[in-house]
Amino acid sequence: MKKALVCGAGGFIGGHLVNRLKEEGYWVRGVDLKSNEYGNNNADEFVIGDLRDINIVSEVVSDDLDEVYQLAADMGGAGFVFTGHNDSDIMHNSALCNLNVLEEVKKKRIKKIFYSSSACMYPEYNQMDPNNPKCSEDSAYPAAPDSEYGWEKLFSERLYLTYNRNHGIDVKIARFHNIFGPMGTWDGGREKAPAALCRKVAEAPDGGAIEVWGDGKQTRSFLIVDECVEGVRRLMDSDFIGPVNIGSEEMISINDFAKMIVDISGKKLTIVNIEGPTGVAGRNSDNRLIREKLGWAPNMSLREGTEKTYKWILEQIENKQ
Ligand code: NAD
Ligand code: GDD
Repeated sequence: MKKALVCGAGGFIGGHLVNRLKEEGYWVRGVDLKSNEYGNNNADEFVIGDLRDINIVSEVVSDDLDEVYQLAADMGGAGFVFTGHNDSDIMHNSALCNLNVLEEVKKKRIKKIFYSSSACMYPEYNQMDPNNPKCSEDSAYPAAPDSEYGWEKLFSERLYLTYNRNHGIDVKIARFHNIFGPMGTWDGGREKAPAALCRKVAEAPDGGAIEVWGDGKQTRSFLIVDECVEGVRRLMDSDFIGPVNIGSEEMISINDFAKMIVDISGKKLTIVNIEGPTGVAGRNSDNRLIREKLGWAPNMSLREGTEKTYKWILEQIENKQ
């Protein structure tokens, strides 16, 4: 039986990844500052611990592990990463987790580690035109991410690659593009657009209005979490190091996405565009490399993933009342 450690197992993608590894027959240890708030806690062993503390890292990275998945990070949507207020926390916390975990993986001679980077590391100058963003993996340099979160991800990608070159550790690096789905953060300030817009639509009275940040012309693509986890497992079992995009190529403007959610709800709502943190003007995954290297790419439609997510968020709101 293979043994894996999932760092950030109390988080959204970590919780889903634990389930996937369990389905595949792994023994799984999870570690996080907190357990998963939606009850998605299915690791065989769950350690509540801070990966900024090297003693905790030394405890959870045991020498009997076959694989480590490093997803722990100070993370959130535009309202968390693009305001500037959380920049020092983001850089300090996430970098320390990566530095500590990698060093311990080296000491314990663990063979394989996965790292979750982000599309936020791509240069802003290629994402100014909402209808024509460029996010191919080879467009990363000259580096110019628009957020400190993106700079930390780029630094950490490079850190992982040094451990590969200098210590022969088999690292795998993916650049996630806006992952969403059930059991993802949907309130509290860290929620991303899919969950935030589903919540706003679900809470609005029929005939009312919802607020959408920016002019609504900014574009994104959104990937359902099941396909993200599928991509992670395929990358981990491949002989490709990456970095590789794991995202959807179904680009949509934020106002059209809001309209899609309104349509799913069956309500009649007006969209009101207001000022807010917007990030880059356009972003879309480029899946040529993942197709070439893994012979696979995600294909669930945004509509299908959004229907599942809307249903789950509606249930959360009803359960809270
Ligand atoms: P998440 O916030 O739900 O999960 C991250 C988890 O890391 C949280 O549960 C948090 O408590 C934990 N964590 C943070 N600091 C820690 C520490 N010091 N010690 C232990 N645990 C700590 O986020 P997510 O959406 O599941 O994202 C997982 C990873 O994927 C992150 O690295 C994130 O940057 C990356 N990513 C996510 C997306 C996305 O759209 N969700 C996009 C790009 C990259
Ligand atoms: N969060 C949020 N909430 N975004 C909104 C809202 C709202 O109510 N209304 C409109 N938006 C707009 C944002 O202004 C932004 O332009 C767009 O929707 C997408 O916002 P997010 O989903 O919050 O973030 P992002 O796509 O800019 O960046 C996210 O994805 C990256 C990976 O692709 C972040 O989660 C990053 O941390 C992540 O790395």
